Amino acid sequence: MPDYIFQPITFASTDYSKVVQLRALVLRQPLGLQFTTHDLKSDQHELIFALMLKNSPIACVQIRPLSKTLVKLRQMAVNPAYQRQGLGKKLIQKVEVYLQTQGVRHIELNARKTALKFYQKLGYKITSDEFFEIGLPHFKMMKKI
Ligand SMILES: CC(C)(COP(=O)(O)OP(=O)(O)OC[C@H]1O[C@@H](n2cnc3c(N)ncnc32)[C@H](O)[C@@H]1OP(=O)(O)O)[C@@H](O)C(=O)NCCC(=O)NCCS
Repeated sequence: MPDYIFQPITFASTDYSKVVQLRALVLRQPLGLQFTTHDLKSDQHELIFALMLKNSPIACVQIRPLSKTLVKLRQMAVNPAYQRQGLGKKLIQKVEVYLQTQGVRHIELNARKTALKFYQKLGYKITSDEFFEIGLPHFKMMKKI
């Protein structure tokens, strides 16, 4: 596994711009889509974490607080050159440990159908029927931490 650093990302920082680029590369460009100002507006109210390699994010994720004990995990993305090397798993595990220290007990997320197995291996359970978001099949998932 490459030598990475787990790091919280400050909104509107240089690292934040790099994270937005990574998210666009992994989550939007393959669909022919771009992030809108509206998409990014909520970022300032969320926690952003990344695995950094030589000052560049290679994996990133966002946490939206929904209550004192419930959060929504969003925008999970690993640079294609680093996928399937255990980095996504490592990032989520580190975020879960941090959230536990903050009193969070449940994490929910909307999983792309293609990523279901990844989340299932991390202990997330399907809690909905299939639905569509940005034109892709998704399922709601939940984990108690
Ligand atoms: C899905 C994604 C976040 C997974 O991150 P990753 O770093 O590639 O995954 P990891 O290497 O940490 O995989 C952890 C485990 O999940 C499995 N896994 C990962 N992606 C998988 C997939 N698409 N299908 C089946 N299994 C998968 C791995 O084989 C590994 O299993 P193991 O623990 O038994 O060895 C990453 O591939 C990605 O960014 N994909 C494109 C964007 C995306 O789909 N994001 C999620 C949107 S909801």
